[in-house]
Amino acid sequence: MTHRPRRLRTTGAMRELVRETRVHARQLVLPVFVGATGAPISSMPGVSRHPLSGIGDVAARAVDAGLGGIMLFGVPEEADKDAIGSAGFSPDGILQRGIAAVRERVGDDIVVMADTCLDEFTDHGHCGLLDAAGLVDNDATVAAYREMALAQARAGAHVVAPSGMMDRQVLAIRDALDGDGFTDVSVLAYSAKYASAFYGPFREAVASSLQGDRRTYQQDPANRREGMREAILDLAEGADMVMVKPASHYLDVLSDVAEVSDVPVAAYQVSGEYSMIEAAAQQGWIDREAAVRESVTAIMRAGADIVLTYYAEELAAWLN
Ligand code: PBG
Repeated sequence: MTHRPRRLRTTGAMRELVRETRVHARQLVLPVFVGATGAPISSMPGVSRHPLSGIGDVAARAVDAGLGGIMLFGVPEEADKDAIGSAGFSPDGILQRGIAAVRERVGDDIVVMADTCLDEFTDHGHCGLLDAAGLVDNDATVAAYREMALAQARAGAHVVAPSGMMDRQVLAIRDALDGDGFTDVSVLAYSAKYASAFYGPFREAVASSLQGDRRTYQQDPANRREGMREAILDLAEGADMVMVKPASHYLDVLSDVAEVSDVPVAAYQVSGEYSMIEAAAQQGWIDREAAVRESVTAIMRAGADIVLTYYAEELAAWLN
C-alpha cells in the first residue's frame, strides 16, 4: 500500500505537527452585554449582562486571557427606548458609556468593538427606523447609523460593526467617520447576516421587544450565492473586515467569503449555537470542552481569521 494516511495520526506529537488549523486566543473576540443593571441570561447559562460599574473588570479579564477583542452590546432601560432608537446615538447612551469605561480601563491593550445597530434601542425592536407603512426604511436608517457610528467612535471604539443589513451602510459609515476625523476607526461589516432562529437567546440577553421578523433585511438562510454578493459589496464600500453570521450552519458561505475577501474574515458563533452546546452538555449528551474546541476549530477551518464567541475567555484558558 503506497498511501497510509493513518501514519500521520499515530501519535499526539505527530498529530500536532500536521495540524492544519490552529486556534489562538488572539483570534477570539468576546461579545459583552452592558446594561444599567447586571443580570444572568437564563437561556445562555454562564453568560450575564454586566452593569456599567463592572464592565471595566470584564474588559480587563479579556485582556488577561489574551483575547483579540471584545464586542460591546448595549442594553438600555425600557424607558430609554423609542421609535428611532435615540439612546443608540446619544453621547450618554448606555453603549457609549460602556465603550468609554472599557477604553479608560484597557486603553489599546485589546481591540474594542461596538455593535452598530438600533434593535436594542428601538421600542419596536427592529434594526432601523420604520416608514409610514411600518417597514424598515433603508436610507433613513443608514442616516441614523452614521450618527451611531460617530457616537461610538467619539466614545473610543476602535472598530464599529454595522449589523443591520441595510444597503450601503458601510459606505455611509466610512464617509461619516472620515468626515469627522476618525480615519483610523475600522469598520467590521456584518456582511452575510442571515435571518436566523439561532439568535433566539440573544433577544433575551438584550431584552428585545421585536414585533414581527427581520426577513426584509436579513438574508434568507436558503441563499448561498447572496452571502458572497453581500460581502463583495461591503468590500467595495470599504469594509476593513467582513463577517459571516451565524457561523456553524453557514460554513459554506464562510468558505465562499474567505475565497473572495482581501481583508480579514470574521465569523460569529451566535447565542443559539452557544446555548445548544450548553444544553446538550448539561444533559451529559456531549463532551462540553471537546464540542467547544471542535466548533471553533471548524469555523476557522472553513476560512475565519477571527471568531466571535461567548466561549472566548474559557477557550483561551484551555488553549494556554
Ligand atoms: C443586532 C445583532 C443581533 C445579534 C448580533 N447583533 C440580533 C439580531 O440580528 O437579531 C445576534 C447575536 C447572537 O445571537 O449571539 N444588534
